[in-house]
Amino acid sequence: MAVNLTGRSLLTLLEYTPEEISYLLDLSFQVKRESRAKIVHRRFVGKTLAMIFEKRSTRTRLAFETAFAEEGGHPIFLSIQDIQLGAKESIEDTARVLGRMVDAIMFRGFKQETVETLAKYSNVPVYNGLTDVFHPTQVLADLMTVQEVFGRLKGIKLVFMGDGRNNMANSLMIGCAKMGMHYVVCSPKELRPDEKLFKTCLEVAKETGGTIQIEEDPEKAVQGADVIYTDVWASMGEEDKQAERERLLRPYQVNEHLMKKTGKDETIFLHCLPAVKGQEVTFEVIEGKQSKVWDEAENRKHTIKALMIATLL
Ligand code: CP
Ligand code: NVA
Repeated sequence: MAVNLTGRSLLTLLEYTPEEISYLLDLSFQVKRESRAKIVHRRFVGKTLAMIFEKRSTRTRLAFETAFAEEGGHPIFLSIQDIQLGAKESIEDTARVLGRMVDAIMFRGFKQETVETLAKYSNVPVYNGLTDVFHPTQVLADLMTVQEVFGRLKGIKLVFMGDGRNNMANSLMIGCAKMGMHYVVCSPKELRPDEKLFKTCLEVAKETGGTIQIEEDPEKAVQGADVIYTDVWASMGEEDKQAERERLLRPYQVNEHLMKKTGKDETIFLHCLPAVKGQEVTFEVIEGKQSKVWDEAENRKHTIKALMIATLL
């Protein structure tokens, strides 16, 4: 059956089938080719997108805002400091009002529950632009970058080094399971993925031919890896945990020694960014030949544009 995503929200990739994710990636490649060829479309003329930010953002804001505006739409940046949400007005009421005025909502913030409530009460597509638990639009760009380099996703081994229970580790685990990839989360015991989500992803992987594994030893984890991925040691909202994370995660730094331990010259390095060079990754690795982080950042825009085309038209 042909894929039709019109009207759909993206809260986590768990709600999307492998076919739907592949469809979004194919559309992302088309959007990227059109962008390179300077082909202009006006697919969002007359439409508006509300973008609510409780946390900071560079890439996600730019990707949504430029992708929507380029197609003739009107993106509206709503900082939590400026709107009634959370101050006087409930999430439910804000959602109902937004749903009467805009065509779609992007939310970046703390609780996953907030983005779910926005979707439940607004009646328009809602996109999760990062919560404490998930960052699904980032994973679309990550999958696109992996496919761009290796020509496939199935069977690719991706190792996530570091805080194994943060929004990136969680979302990558879902994305890899959905696409039949081999996902290894390499972190100390204290920072392992949530048991329930891990089990859910194991079930998904069983169906797609993927695997999910937890490994504490960095050198063992990266053997044969096609992709090494890392993220900051303390995510937004966890600044008070910085010292403890430095202590726990120092052995999990991605450096040239670890990159060599994959035993493959073609292994690539990915990072959602922003990166703290000298902590989770060394300057040499992120600036080195194996790093694809700038392509990955660019792909945020193509995948986000594709997601909005697929769900709004
Ligand atoms: N990767 C990412 O989401 O970056 P921003 O926090 O800059 O949006
Ligand atoms: N884990 C990071 C991702 C930033 C894109 C954070 O939440 O701060």
